[in-house]
Amino acid sequence: MTTLDDLPLRDDLRGLTAYGAPQLDVPVRLNTNENSYPVPDDVVEAIGKAVQDELRDLNRYPDRDAVALRADLAAYLGHGLTVANVWAANGSNEVQQQLLQAFGGPGRTALGFTPAYSMHPLLAVGTGTAWVDGHRGGDFTLTAADVVAQVRQHDPDLVFLCSPNNPTGTALPPDVVTAVLDVAPGMVVVDEAYAEFARPGTPSALTVLPGHPRLVVTRTMSKAFGFAGGRLGYLAADPAVVDAVQLVRLPYHLSALTQAAARAAVAHRDGLLATVEAIKEQRDRIVATLRSRGLTVADSDANFVLFEVGGDQRAAWQALLDHGVLVRDVGLPGWLRVTAGTPAETDAFLTAMESL
Ligand SMILES: Cc1ncc(COP(=O)(O)O)c(C=O)c1O
Repeated sequence: MTTLDDLPLRDDLRGLTAYGAPQLDVPVRLNTNENSYPVPDDVVEAIGKAVQDELRDLNRYPDRDAVALRADLAAYLGHGLTVANVWAANGSNEVQQQLLQAFGGPGRTALGFTPAYSMHPLLAVGTGTAWVDGHRGGDFTLTAADVVAQVRQHDPDLVFLCSPNNPTGTALPPDVVTAVLDVAPGMVVVDEAYAEFARPGTPSALTVLPGHPRLVVTRTMSKAFGFAGGRLGYLAADPAVVDAVQLVRLPYHLSALTQAAARAAVAHRDGLLATVEAIKEQRDRIVATLRSRGLTVADSDANFVLFEVGGDQRAAWQALLDHGVLVRDVGLPGWLRVTAGTPAETDAFLTAMESL
């Protein structure tokens, strides 16, 4: 049987394993921070109609620049943003890959702060960008002084910040982004995949965009919008950044069906985003309940919670799975991450935790 070792694979890909959160068929799936609520009937109908309207024209390529969708997303974001400030792709993963293609690459470096979103280093490797694993404080916090020191030390072409941070769940203090912008020699990417779940008073990096052409804020419809299967991520930045990613994107990367479905979803955002408050309630319930049982739990501004299991997290992960509850082992010794879903899913998770 042919293996990877028999192929003339790039040297820097040898020995790597592909990204892969387990996709197991269990009753309670709380491991990939999806929105547990299905798409409401009226939105299903609207998306179905929008997609249907495109079918006869599938002989033609789609709008290469997805202008109408980008205008809709700019209107959703507000902050005075227009179509020229927004770019969209198949998930924020693809947006970040395009940023690395445009601003990273061989001979260039990207700096992130572990633990953060595990795809950032993988996207860097895939684009031939050297990844520098920066560090956080013992309690996962990231102070402006700490980040500035690491940016000065490594002189990266890109800095990746994640707020609210996956897997810890906590949003960055606002002064961290501005402090990094003051000293970073290259691009600063703030991954705000979970922005809609942030606790009140947590500012978005969108507020800092004016006057900062090297700042990029990435967002996704995979979480709050409950549109993970639709694959739609986007960025907001100076129009020059949008010009830059257009140099590397594949032509017609966003299918006509994706654009139509995403536009219908954005038009029905009130119905889709109605689940956010219910999810935040479950998140706060998980945090409070686990803390009341003496566990250490990270503050969460997201739709998930990182908690300490007080022992081998792999054994705890398996024990929860044996109770039909799939959570995420993010590789942090002693910690697990659980997605906040429906009240019934929280019940199942907390009951399973009780039996550990
Ligand atoms: C921090 C963060 N950024 C980006 C993504 C990817 O989102 P998308 O589905 O838009 O590619 C995820 C998904 O889990 C995430 O946690």
